[in-house]
Amino acid sequence: MDLIIRNATLPDGTTGRDIGVADGLIAAIEPTLEGEAAQEIDATGLLASPPFIDAHFHMDATLSLGLPRLSRSGTLLEGIALWGELKPHLTQDAVIERALAYCDMAVAQGMGAVRTHVDVCDDRLLAVEALLEVKRRVAPYLTLQLVAFPQDGLYRSPNAEANLIRALDMGVDVVGGIPHFERTMADGARSVTRLCEIAAERGLLVDMHCDETDDPMSRHIETLTAECQRLGMAGRVTGSHLTSMHSMDNYYVSKLIPLMAEAGIAAIANPLINITIQGRHDTYPKRRGMTRVPELMAAGVPVAFGHDCVMDPWYPMGSADMLEVASMALHVAQMTSLDGMAACFDAVTATPAKILHLEGYGLDVGCRADLVLLEAGDKIEAIRLRAARRHVLRGGREIASSPSRKATLSIDGRPDAVDFRRART
Ligand code: FE2
Repeated sequence: MDLIIRNATLPDGTTGRDIGVADGLIAAIEPTLEGEAAQEIDATGLLASPPFIDAHFHMDATLSLGLPRLSRSGTLLEGIALWGELKPHLTQDAVIERALAYCDMAVAQGMGAVRTHVDVCDDRLLAVEALLEVKRRVAPYLTLQLVAFPQDGLYRSPNAEANLIRALDMGVDVVGGIPHFERTMADGARSVTRLCEIAAERGLLVDMHCDETDDPMSRHIETLTAECQRLGMAGRVTGSHLTSMHSMDNYYVSKLIPLMAEAGIAAIANPLINITIQGRHDTYPKRRGMTRVPELMAAGVPVAFGHDCVMDPWYPMGSADMLEVASMALHVAQMTSLDGMAACFDAVTATPAKILHLEGYGLDVGCRADLVLLEAGDKIEAIRLRAARRHVLRGGREIASSPSRKATLSIDGRPDAVDFRRART
């Protein structure tokens, strides 16, 4: 063995397991591994998890907060307008520099992969080139998956379709879209069909910004679901945001969600962004805006959570912490049952790994030894404490670490002084 992690707790609740790593892969998970390894980590009191996966992000815009100005309204549309003001002034070097800084931040927080949308409406495709370069550079320590995203609308922006094809030819992985931003509902539906056909022809995955609005009549998810079914793309299509579902008529949703499950479509909510951007036209009561996460999960639709934005035209906060994302989702969706809280952890780890079709992900023998050792007793405590990422491993090699927070977190030096696990038995 190259590495043995001793006495870890596993996400399924199993305690006292040794994890052996050889040649970058998990070679054994046993109560006790005999013998010695070149390196050992004492994981007593730590939760060993596969890394966090951010299923939805915008790395071309990240860390650009204040450029060229701050948003006044906080709405999606002013964010898009602000990004439009910044785009002509972007340089490839600046995009690369900001993205690399973000990747460092993400890895330190235990991130293993990020699906990032990249705007293809700038004819120069400068951001596409920049993020392809970043993807190449960070590959040893972070997996990036790029989505060709026609931010200004496939039909609303003059060269968007041609640019999207160019971006795919350059190596962008996934087909994106933004049907609710097209000029008409009809154009939106047409864009969904066209984009799904492009993906089907090329054997690519689809992940569309879909119905990111409070308008309950924005029903492009219906078209996306139907196209997923028609083109036989079960397990390959994702609707991101789906915030209009929050405001939809319940009867309509009672038909929609089973159709989504039947088609094999996945959903990605972006709780930090949904809770701050949606409901901006409401007085009171003010809608939360996040899609119907527990109802989708109950129907068997895979649901992941994305960070979406960090310090960019849409959102002035964020620190690449997927436990903060999971915590916000848990609160907004009122997922405070034991199963609900655990599902929120899965929505930033195992579920997005499946949606992104990541290979070798997981905590099983034969998986890549990509692990994060969290200072927590279980998945729920990890969310509650935004647990310290004591060790972050990629292929069995430590790429980030952080000190214990136990001394600073509680009155008696124990963050688990109020032991939630004890409280619930
Ligand atoms: Fe987004």
